[in-house]
Amino acid sequence: MKAKVVLLGPPGCGKGTQAEKMGDDLGYVKLSTGDMLREAVRNKTELGLKAKTYMDAGGLVPNDLIIGLMKEKIAGLDKIILDGFPRTVEQADALAEQVDIDIAINIDVPDEELITRLTQRRSCPDCNAVYHLTNKPPMKEGVCDKCGAALYQRDDDKEETVKNRLEVYRKNTFPLIDYYEKRGKLVTIPGVGDISEIYAQVKKSLL
Ligand code: AP5
Repeated sequence: MKAKVVLLGPPGCGKGTQAEKMGDDLGYVKLSTGDMLREAVRNKTELGLKAKTYMDAGGLVPNDLIIGLMKEKIAGLDKIILDGFPRTVEQADALAEQVDIDIAINIDVPDEELITRLTQRRSCPDCNAVYHLTNKPPMKEGVCDKCGAALYQRDDDKEETVKNRLEVYRKNTFPLIDYYEKRGKLVTIPGVGDISEIYAQVKKSLL
């Protein structure tokens, strides 16, 4: 089974949803830069204070802050999923210096679907589980199935910010599809349809 996995794709394509399943089912350690940054913002750490303005506007946090953070987190881990990292060619080059990635899975979803998914997403602040008001509602309204915490709507899931995040993705992160294709690491999986069926394809690509 492939051990070092990068998840690529636009905001809302389902990276976090699929990473959670891979962690639960296959024992991968999920490293999500978005989750780490949101926790840092909540705890008002130095990183969080620096990152907040960029995140609220839907922009990218500067490479130097992210690269240092991820270097530390990745060190010594064997079976990892990187969700939300790398997001720029500079980040991908820094990652390649540290580890040899086995596969980059690109989850492909059209823009119109992404906006509905993000504006109706609800997230758990404690265990980072992800829900959707209609596609994947929690068993009890407003409460996380996994840990019982109250669910919330992310600040950057408001429609205007979502549009900016999609533009930032196209400009900075989309080139990574070509980057990993040229290195023979890319697999693209259609990300529209049943979450479990998409997961079955993700799992197959890891064998
Ligand atoms: P981050 O948290 O990484 O946000 P993102 O990449 O925009 O991705 P999302 O978490 O929004 O979406 P996702 O693909 O995980 O989809 P999900 O599974 O939740 O980053 C946030 C911010 O942090 C960035 O804007 C930036 O400022 C900063 N940042 C992070 N990493 C950085 C980096 N490396 N460099 C610089 N800055 C960085 O699914 C979305 C919704 O759809 C959910 O409600 C889900 O239930 C639903 N859903 C999932 N799959 C399906 C399906 N098949 N059918 C229907 N609904 C579905």
